[in-house]
Amino acid sequence: MHVSDDAPMSHAGDLQADVADILLSEQRIRDRVIELGRQISHDYTGQRLTLVSVLKGSLPFMADLMREIDIPLRIDLMEVSSYGGASTESSGLVRILKDLSASIAGEQVLLVEDIIDTGLTLNYLLRYLRGKSPASLRICTLLDKPARRLVDIPVDYTGFTIPDQFVVGYGLDYGELYRNLRFVGVLRPEVYSVPE
Ligand code: IMP
Repeated sequence: MHVSDDAPMSHAGDLQADVADILLSEQRIRDRVIELGRQISHDYTGQRLTLVSVLKGSLPFMADLMREIDIPLRIDLMEVSSYGGASTESSGLVRILKDLSASIAGEQVLLVEDIIDTGLTLNYLLRYLRGKSPASLRICTLLDKPARRLVDIPVDYTGFTIPDQFVVGYGLDYGELYRNLRFVGVLRPEVYSVPE
């Protein structure tokens, strides 16, 4: 199968029709985010928390999760690129496109991620953030795909553990599209294939 370097333009007109299977419904995601928010609020009671989210995939998760946490918190945003173009494979190369806007020295930091796949992106980010001397640094990911892990990552909060499938929706993209779906789903194989 050849993977296109460009966005799947021929299918871009109908996002829902490109999805073969809904893995996590909007309701399931909502229920789990509420649970995570409660657990995080409980674990950090009496402390001030800094949520650091990694754009762009974590945007919906971050927006929903922060509103389910009822302790004082600050947010900050980073953007990194790990995948080039529309490819579904991690390159292992991480580039910081947007850095933190405030110091996290001495802060309780929770890194909010969309998905951990090989772990290469997060591994790089963890080393980078540890260098900024937070009081603590934990990880919260909506999705975990442990089957493809290349580096060991200590995940503190996981929304869902999913099988080794490329998923889109609720922030996750293929060729920058499908982030606005309310659910997490698997694309039809034709979307990835281009005629030879
Ligand atoms: P890792 O470095 O392989 O762990 O990849 C992490 C990043 O790859 C995530 O933050 C996503 O941006 C992207 N990614 C990994 N798996 C998927 C997927 O199934 N769908 C969409 N993006 C993915």
